[in-house]
Amino acid sequence: MTVLRVLARKWIYVRKAALVKEALKRSLLLACSLIPPLGRLVYNLEISPDGVSVGTGDMARDWDARARRNARWYIYWDAWKTEEEFDAAGEADVRDVVLKELVVEPGARALEIGCGIGRLVKPMSRRTAEVHGVDISAEMVQQGKERLEGLTNVQLRVCDGALSAYPAGHFDLCYSIAVFRHLPEKRFVLTYLAEAARVLKAAGIVRFEVWATGRADRREQGGTLVGVTFSEVEMRQLLTRLGFEVLEVEPRPGLPYVIYTARKEQRAGDETRVLVHWTRTRAESLQRSTT
Ligand SMILES: C[S@@+](CC[C@H](N)C(=O)[O-])C[C@H]1O[C@@H](n2cnc3c(N)ncnc32)[C@H](O)[C@@H]1O
Repeated sequence: MTVLRVLARKWIYVRKAALVKEALKRSLLLACSLIPPLGRLVYNLEISPDGVSVGTGDMARDWDARARRNARWYIYWDAWKTEEEFDAAGEADVRDVVLKELVVEPGARALEIGCGIGRLVKPMSRRTAEVHGVDISAEMVQQGKERLEGLTNVQLRVCDGALSAYPAGHFDLCYSIAVFRHLPEKRFVLTYLAEAARVLKAAGIVRFEVWATGRADRREQGGTLVGVTFSEVEMRQLLTRLGFEVLEVEPRPGLPYVIYTARKEQRAGDETRVLVHWTRTRAESLQRSTT
């Protein structure tokens, strides 16, 4: 009996602590939205293994500084200490996230938006004929080129917020993981999605991750570390307007982000053969989204 009472008390204590933590988080988020300078400070605040610092709000400058400080930590802070664990995390994310339920045929071309130092590009190079990566940070791209030297089907480039280096209808797959969640304004995400619609072949696949939104953390503006949020309705409308068919919207387990998978529409007369395919039928997707 005593044991049960102790356990019950402990449970109430843990529950209360969680409620207090959630209330504090929500109050802070509310304060951030009411007092913009506070928001800018909080969304740009960084506590890394090298200490505390505050980003400037300029995407290229902040990510260059992060790459110089500790690129692997800022890219993937769950597995950054050794090159081996960083590589293993990239391999797992390509298998379980980037290519989940997609079939890649020989000859496929892929493009990553926000490639960093090539954590995902490296395993993608073993599965595609060509993989290209763009990043806003010249420092990330430089380190990526050094890391992936010798991989002949890889090309990394610095970009300025668009995909202007690439021709229309060129790629089978365009993906972006752990990038849009850091963008400080929605228009940057919109430009990349419109650009993805341009550079993909007809029926090509776009897969990307954004911050999901709850009532307390809806953000139109953020910093270069904690970026904007999109509601599902908003993102579905946007993708449809850009000529994509939404195939799946999947929350990332244990994380506040969602992954969208969409297919560029194919018009009558579009002859190009796309080499990356979604494996589920429309009926299966609908069934999963309702269960
Ligand atoms: C957390 S890292 C993720 C890197 C890579 N996608 C991965 O999962 O390994 C975020 C990357 O996005 C890049 N980035 C930030 N803002 C960007 C923008 N507006 N355009 C392109 N890349 C951006 C950063 O420089 C950084 O390399």
